[in-house]
Amino acid sequence: MHYLITGGCGFIGSHLVEALLASGHQVTVLDDLSTGAISNVQAMDGDDRLQVLIGSVTDKDLVHEAVSQCDAVFHLASAVGVQLIMERPVETIDTIVTGTQLVLERANRYRKPVLLTSTSEVYGKSTSVPFQEDGDRLAGPTTKHRWAYACAKALDEFLAMAYWKSSHLPVVVVRLFNTVGPRQTGQYGMVIPRFVQHALSNEPLQVFGDGQQSRCFCHVADVVRGLIQLMDCDQANGQVVNLGSTQEVSIRELAEKVIAHTGSQSKIQMRPYDDVFGPGFEDMQRRVPSIEKARQLVNWLPERDLDQILTDVVAGLRTN
Ligand SMILES: NC(=O)c1ccc[n+]([C@@H]2O[C@H](COP(=O)([O-])OP(=O)(O)OC[C@H]3O[C@@H](n4cnc5c(N)ncnc54)[C@H](O)[C@@H]3O)[C@@H](O)[C@H]2O)c1
Repeated sequence: MHYLITGGCGFIGSHLVEALLASGHQVTVLDDLSTGAISNVQAMDGDDRLQVLIGSVTDKDLVHEAVSQCDAVFHLASAVGVQLIMERPVETIDTIVTGTQLVLERANRYRKPVLLTSTSEVYGKSTSVPFQEDGDRLAGPTTKHRWAYACAKALDEFLAMAYWKSSHLPVVVVRLFNTVGPRQTGQYGMVIPRFVQHALSNEPLQVFGDGQQSRCFCHVADVVRGLIQLMDCDQANGQVVNLGSTQEVSIRELAEKVIAHTGSQSKIQMRPYDDVFGPGFEDMQRRVPSIEKARQLVNWLPERDLDQILTDVVAGLRTN
């Protein structure tokens, strides 16, 4: 098979590139390197089954060329995370909405199956944990820009479902929960690489809010396995599927674990949300997926726990 991976120079995308090449497939990457890096796919450089196109998913000609030549599309390119969307409010919404619109339109024209990565952020402030794919979402007001990421990704999901309903384009939406592993950068606020980087240099680990907010972290290798299985699963078409770990940890506890894991001298520093993101910032207290649907569809379960994740992230950052 020949796969197009938009966002293939990013953290998850580059692991997906690696896995697909290792299974004997041909891969084209389309990435504008805004948060990704060419170095993420450099280890595979020289493999003539890999082609990297540098450009945006909002570029009509480029998307047209890339989609028309592949057999299926993994659409990962996106502005990622709340911090980035707070810093670059206009471009980030444009990339998410316009890029996805273009990819889906071209995929429909050439009848290429699409897997679209969405996010647990779409559940918003819902407290109905574990989050189920057909559960209600609860987003905050449009004056709080933090919710733009959730709403833009939700709009992508609506559009994907609309193509499935109106023209039976094979499309699956995968809501990823916090995904971590080697190559993830802490630069845009991702908590585990940020904590590990600071712990390795004995700097304070900054915990935002009261630190009681919890998250479930899933190893990127587990996530990539799930993405490939769902792309291959006909019953997943027209469905939204959660992928994530169910091992819950508070952010304060996570900071303590990172310090213990690295043998660091770092101290924990608490910082109010307002200091970091400005007044009125809202966060989600808990974010736990129901992964029953992924289990039923493709027998997917995470295989690596938080200790394994920390071991791999520490090793990756020490190498760099
Ligand atoms: N990492 C997580 O915890 C997580 C959680 C939920 C959802 N996701 C989703 O997974 C996908 C991949 O995220 P990631 O964590 O690998 O982030 P990432 O930032 O490492 O990857 C995104 C990639 O998309 C590229 N990109 C951004 N805008 C682009 C554009 N206009 N044209 C072409 N390429 C563009 C970036 O350069 C980058 O390589 C995203 O769709 C994201 O919303 C990730």
